[in-house]
Amino acid sequence: MPPKTVELNPQRFIARHVGAIPRSGIRDFFDIVQGVKDVISLGIGEPDFVTPWHIREAAIYALERGRTCYTSNLGLLKLREAIARNVEKHFHASYDPKREILVAVGVSEAMDIAFRAALNPGDEVIYHEPCYVSYSPGITLAGGVPAPVACGAENGFSVTAEAIERAVTPRSKMLVLNFPTNPTGGTMARAELEKIAAVARRRDLLVLTDEIYAELTFEGEHTSIASLPGMKERTIFLHGFSKAYAMTGFRIGYACGPAEMIEAMMRIHQYSMLCASIISQEAALEALEHGEADTMEMREQYRARRNFIVNALNDMGLPCHLPRGSFYAFPSIRPTGLDSRQFALQLLESGKVACVPGSAFGPSGEGFVRCCFATGLDNLEEAARRMKKFVAGRR
Ligand SMILES: Cc1ncc(COP(=O)(O)O)c(C=O)c1O
Repeated sequence: MPPKTVELNPQRFIARHVGAIPRSGIRDFFDIVQGVKDVISLGIGEPDFVTPWHIREAAIYALERGRTCYTSNLGLLKLREAIARNVEKHFHASYDPKREILVAVGVSEAMDIAFRAALNPGDEVIYHEPCYVSYSPGITLAGGVPAPVACGAENGFSVTAEAIERAVTPRSKMLVLNFPTNPTGGTMARAELEKIAAVARRRDLLVLTDEIYAELTFEGEHTSIASLPGMKERTIFLHGFSKAYAMTGFRIGYACGPAEMIEAMMRIHQYSMLCASIISQEAALEALEHGEADTMEMREQYRARRNFIVNALNDMGLPCHLPRGSFYAFPSIRPTGLDSRQFALQLLESGKVACVPGSAFGPSGEGFVRCCFATGLDNLEEAARRMKKFVAGRR
């Protein structure tokens, strides 16, 4: 008698904690966008610029020289040295390139291994919301418990030290900060950041600061919490090349932090990723050594686009605060009477403009949509015309 076969249930092979994680609201929405013709996308958050030529050339040259091997798990030493110089110059925090810097496959990987290195099951991680879509699932996948602090439009979605302190419990281990913020474009004044740092010290929190939009700060000076007194010792500083140098496809970023934490992250990295691509590392080195002017030029173009789209949104009756950094506008769509998903779907269908429902960034994003202005002014002008017509039809 042949052995009995059981009925195949593909779900049975999926780990429970993974099955419970929702798909990203952004990706879900963009699967719908794929099927619609003649759409102007203010959706995916990536620069419309191609990586500056000299950076691409550095990657090509790396290939020409046969630089096709693994690197040290921590990344090329010359790249870590350049990162140390750059972080010292722009963020006023100094790190030892031999022990306190790890090159990773984007901020995405750096964040994942930071959560996995730091969290024990049940540890709570506080973060301000609306926020980048990966924080909550990243924390859950590492066994932690997401503890969002909801921020409102009344104060430009900025989080206060007081609100963070209120969220602290005996299980709190980590605090995630992201300024300028995806999706709101919010920045943080130094004085408030000092108060947040005091909470972290008083309540013994490890801080993970995601500074991926730091160079795209339009007003005021960007301050990193890692540079404040007594904070370097309890901060993991994450940064990358995707936004500032238009290098999303290179998948390259890094973490700086206390040597013990970098060593712990490196252990996960060496058994999972091994190292970041050497070609991308060579390109990243060129970006740090000769790319500053490109970043500044792109930032000025983003600034002009921001000024245009924020004015246009307010004019058409969608109240929008001025994003002080990043390349996202986050207007309220409440005057239309629609929720954010209905608004985005109907705008897509009848107005042929794609933006992301605010609810994709957490419950406190409801009532808003994210419009990425990393696209040409002509595109933005046409998108604004279409949106204005759509909004007028709703009133
Ligand atoms: C706040 C934030 N952090 C991290 C990332 C991921 O960056 P990377 O391309 O370096 O993995 C993004 C990408 O959109 C982001 O918005």
